[in-house]
Amino acid sequence: MKNSALAEIGFLDIEIDPSLDLFAEINRLKKEKNAVILAHYYQEPDIQDIADYIGDSLGLAQNAARTEADVIVFAGVHFMAETAKILNPGKKVLLPDLKAGCSLSDSCPPSLFKTFKEKHPDHLVISYINCSAGIKALSDIICTSSNAQLIVEKLPKDQKIIFAPDKNLGGYINRKSGREMLLWNGACMVHEIFSLEKITKLKARHPYAKVIAHPECEEAILGLADFIGSTTQLLDYTQKDDSVAYIVATESGILHKMRSYAPNKTFIAAPPDNACACNDCPHMKRNTLEKVYLCLKYEEPEILMEENLRLAAKIPIDRMLDMSRKLGLGK
Ligand code: 13P
Ligand code: SF4
Repeated sequence: MKNSALAEIGFLDIEIDPSLDLFAEINRLKKEKNAVILAHYYQEPDIQDIADYIGDSLGLAQNAARTEADVIVFAGVHFMAETAKILNPGKKVLLPDLKAGCSLSDSCPPSLFKTFKEKHPDHLVISYINCSAGIKALSDIICTSSNAQLIVEKLPKDQKIIFAPDKNLGGYINRKSGREMLLWNGACMVHEIFSLEKITKLKARHPYAKVIAHPECEEAILGLADFIGSTTQLLDYTQKDDSVAYIVATESGILHKMRSYAPNKTFIAAPPDNACACNDCPHMKRNTLEKVYLCLKYEEPEILMEENLRLAAKIPIDRMLDMSRKLGLGK
């Protein structure tokens, strides 16, 4: 069944028997179909708890590249599942909710980016993995938040670079490396919402708490941070560091693992600049345990991709995986 047809008949609204033990059913289906569930740290706790692997974007791409499962259920957003499909053309890659997109990826449409790139033919294109397959196909190297700086620093100092689509991560690397990469004007809706004023007040109320932040945050928030890193790096930091409290400036899903790995520490979600729950990514949170069960049961919605696009998008991803392996990065 085609994905669009599936969405039209309201597949995602299929009623599930409320007495069903979803954890047991998902585990049974996983075995029956030789399926694996890969989940990002921004997924809801139930999904993190049933996943075979939880990680940041680099760890997820590395796991997708090495899995021997026949079916990959990608509990994350569309660009992540797309990356898994690019690396696994022969496997079935499922995304529990096909509408789980990404504001950062959406901020960089391939047709506009192609025109921009053509204006700078002497520039190498490094794209953050949070982009569509179309942007990946226009890129020379892909990076994630955990390897972006090291990948940029591996390139000759005089190499001109376009960095897309995240202006905040690109700006952060420019400041750290002294480069002047040309930045695409994109940003993540979740990481742009943190309030400098509220975090400053929170820090005054909790003087022992360290501020830790994801590099997708704006410069002012990063300026306050005691530690900056990808979701996995933030999680590792909270386990190794000896502070007792942290103000966490990234999507709130990461708090689940932070709290379970360090139950005696206090983790405070950095507040957004209004009263909403805007540090929950609405795209990531489209996936639910029920949708994970349904997609595993019916093997839909599936990620499908045109072969020429897949091959073009795979080249810069393979370069990233190769560089990360040589740099000893990831899991
Ligand atoms: P990482 O997984 O690299 O930490 O990036 C976070 C993110 O925004 C994923 O969408
Ligand atoms: Fe995209 Fe931001 Fe959500 Fe990550 S948190 S999926 S970058 S919108």
